[in-house]
Amino acid sequence: MARNICFCAAITAVLISLCIAATLDIPIYRQHLIVGDETRGKSIKASETKPNPVWHNDTIPLQKFMDAEYFGIIRIGSPAKNFKMVFNTMWGDTWIPSAHCGLFEIACMTHTRYDSSRSSSYQEDGTIFSTGDTANDLQGFVSRDKFRLDHLTIENQSFIEMTHIPWIPYGLSKADGIIGLGFPDLRHIKAPSFFTNMLKQKLINKPMFSFYFNRDATTERAGRLVLGAPDRKHVNESTLVTVPVIGKLYWKIKMDRMVIDVRDKSHPFCKDGCEALLDSSTNTIVGPRDEIQLINDLLGARSFVPAIFKMDRYMVNCREFAKLPPINFVIAEKTFTINSKYYVQHLTYESLEICLSPFVPSDEKFWQLGGAFLMEFYTEYNFDHGQVTIGKTKF
Ligand SMILES: *[C@@H]1O[C@H](CO)[C@@H](O)[C@H](O)[C@H]1NC(C)=O
Ligand SMILES: *[C@@H]1O[C@H](CO)[C@@H](O)[C@H](O)[C@H]1NC(C)=O
Ligand SMILES: *[C@@H]1O[C@H](CO)[C@@H](O)[C@H](O)[C@H]1NC(C)=O
Repeated sequence: MARNICFCAAITAVLISLCIAATLDIPIYRQHLIVGDETRGKSIKASETKPNPVWHNDTIPLQKFMDAEYFGIIRIGSPAKNFKMVFNTMWGDTWIPSAHCGLFEIACMTHTRYDSSRSSSYQEDGTIFSTGDTANDLQGFVSRDKFRLDHLTIENQSFIEMTHIPWIPYGLSKADGIIGLGFPDLRHIKAPSFFTNMLKQKLINKPMFSFYFNRDATTERAGRLVLGAPDRKHVNESTLVTVPVIGKLYWKIKMDRMVIDVRDKSHPFCKDGCEALLDSSTNTIVGPRDEIQLINDLLGARSFVPAIFKMDRYMVNCREFAKLPPINFVIAEKTFTINSKYYVQHLTYESLEICLSPFVPSDEKFWQLGGAFLMEFYTEYNFDHGQVTIGKTKF
């Protein structure tokens, strides 16, 4: 009996992390482990009164949860409260759960909530936000407050206080909210985005940010996000390639092709070139249904069932995944190879073990390169130049 309960708990935990993995995830948890170039202790009180130092960049170390979710901490309000935030390149706005959400809003109740009545730096706005009126939509209203990073404080930052948050996927996530790092035109609300505000308030010098991620289970380090500067310590500079962004909305670039070599035969995908979005919000690689089907066949991946979660995920054999072929992405005629050690998502909980192919089908023509790609490649995003720079990560 106890065993069954355990097993159920294990299954549930894996499904939960999967579910998050499918929709929400990339990370950054700001910890004391690796705070950039200086040491810091418990300085929350001190930094609340300190003015912005002349620093011009900020670093947010990342931490991971079950190889599924990556997030960082931002402190909001006065006195400051910690919020675990996912930094999402596919989204334009910033939101956190609100203290005004109802009693039956489970996804809201199980996370840290923002209470404007307890923050002396709160400023009212009240503009209603809604993506629709079904249970699967997000609903809330706009407020403004101080956002505190490691060295920098953003004043008067607008964000959405969510009063309705769908249970799937957010109820299950470790993170409380999202900071959008897409281009400003992706925003739903009018006020300046997190990044635009940092530039407007002259907190950072360069209109750019950079990420590296680390999936290695033997280390606590899950990567980091640097705002306002490159992080070239974490990249092999001779592999760097800079490509233009298409359309200045998403971080969308041109991919020349993809190649998988299996048993001396070369299988090409995205043959005439295609568009690819860099997506820090998932662990997956999403592409056109027919091509993804062929790729999963080549990897020997079988469909993974939980239909209720509406996920098109495929499983590979955990004993064999080290033998799966490397996958080559060609961008600006340079080859970026991902290896199965990194691209397979390995979820374990107690004795339960599930290994997932990162390849997920969609009905769109473009590709989305998420964690499975970003785990091996450092990326830089420049808003002004509309450019992305990619190179092999140096851990
Ligand atoms: C961030 O700014 C500080 C102070 O100007 C500088 O010492 C540090 O090297 C910068 N970090 C990066 C990653 O550029
Ligand atoms: C704060 O932000 C709002 C919304 O962008 C703007 O209308 C207002 O002028 C800002 N206030 C200050 C003091 O910058
Ligand atoms: C950096 O990349 C170059 C070109 O691929 C390679 O020859 C070199 O060995 C790499 N350096 C390191 C330290 O990995």
